[in-house]
Amino acid sequence: MSKNLSTQPYKGVRDFYPEDAAIQQYIFDTWSKTAEAFGFSRYDASILEPSAMHKAKGAQNEEMVNDQTYTFTDRGDREVTLRPEMTPTVARLIAGRRRELSFPVRWYSIPNLFRYERAQRGRLREHWQLNCDIFGGDSFAADVEMILLARQVLLDFGATDDMFEIHLNDRAQMMRQYLALGLTEAQIPNITRLNDKKNKISKEEYRTELNEITKDETLSEEIIILLEQTDTDSDIHFALNELGITNVVFDKTLARGFDYYTGTIFEIFDTSGENNRALLGGGRYDNLTALFGGEPVSGVGFGMGDVTMRDFLTTHNLVPTQINQGVTVAILPLSAAEQLPALKLAQEFRAAGVSASIDTSDRKIGKKIAAAETAHANYVLALGSDEAISNVYTMKHLQSGKETLGTVAKLLKIIVS
Ligand code: HAM
Repeated sequence: MSKNLSTQPYKGVRDFYPEDAAIQQYIFDTWSKTAEAFGFSRYDASILEPSAMHKAKGAQNEEMVNDQTYTFTDRGDREVTLRPEMTPTVARLIAGRRRELSFPVRWYSIPNLFRYERAQRGRLREHWQLNCDIFGGDSFAADVEMILLARQVLLDFGATDDMFEIHLNDRAQMMRQYLALGLTEAQIPNITRLNDKKNKISKEEYRTELNEITKDETLSEEIIILLEQTDTDSDIHFALNELGITNVVFDKTLARGFDYYTGTIFEIFDTSGENNRALLGGGRYDNLTALFGGEPVSGVGFGMGDVTMRDFLTTHNLVPTQINQGVTVAILPLSAAEQLPALKLAQEFRAAGVSASIDTSDRKIGKKIAAAETAHANYVLALGSDEAISNVYTMKHLQSGKETLGTVAKLLKIIVS
């Protein structure tokens, strides 16, 4: 006989057994509730995109596109990519309806994304990501709205401001300051890329690589001094201050990996020390829709992953304990003869808007009760030949042990009270 197939999932992806799916659903529900409270409308698209879109100059994150995409050739010889991020897709949707849409628009989505990364804490090969973006909102107020929304999502999970830090930088300003120091336009993207991996390398390695880019130790020293400064004189800084947002860190080393950002960039980090990966990343990208032709529509937004979100919630003890919603009534036929009456009874509960399941096994009643308990049923109802004839049942509330005797009408009253 051939070797059995493994029950393990493909490397770097997850299975969602019901207890995991319940937590994931809780995360998705909270995400949508907060996004909608900020006036965002939901959109979606296919996981499959032509590879050319992710490879296009301007949309690029070199490492992601060259080393991390799942790309294949379809049966019609088209090169296809499982989307590694949503931003080029949403830019495509916006560009496609550029003339019909009334800007600014606020859109959100919860896509499944795929990146061929080395699996580690906070990084998998598949994740889901809350994406919120404002298009055609050119004012700094749109950037501030995104930061307020990102923070509110965390507060709505029960987090407090001391549990996370919002790191903020501005690419356009960095560009001006680098040019003022004498760096060339060609050197700046290399420095941005180096800054992006700054936390993963030592100070010495950073300095060596910086010298390789600048070929000038004095200039490297000036860059290091610049990166340690904090500028707090922009509209965004002022607004966040006025709004009482205190957990903001102005961090000139914050780089973000994507080429499309043109202004504000931000990431949120857990302060506990348990989770090093950013919980969220985003920024302003004013030219991305131009990939699809026409006048560009400005965008600002962020992506927040479910893997890092769940790690954050677990670390801070924020996963609700009562998350597994079981069925309301588990009907347990005592023998094969009561299977049909059980089917009918279950339909009566469902018609009244009460969820009901039936145990279709031929196991002993004790086992059936145990299974109903494990499945977090609220009530169990044992159905024997007497009950099938009388239509009067005994229903037991599992948590309190309290029993009620009565017809379906009476039991329904107990359930809804
Ligand atoms: P990103 O920084 O690549 O940005 O991802 C955003 C968030 O998605 C990360 O902070 C993390 O929570 C999660 N994430 C990313 N990759 C993985 C992974 N391999 N495993 C688990 N979680 C992951 C973007 O994707 C931008 N497109 C976000 C954006 C939207 N910018 C503007 N609008």
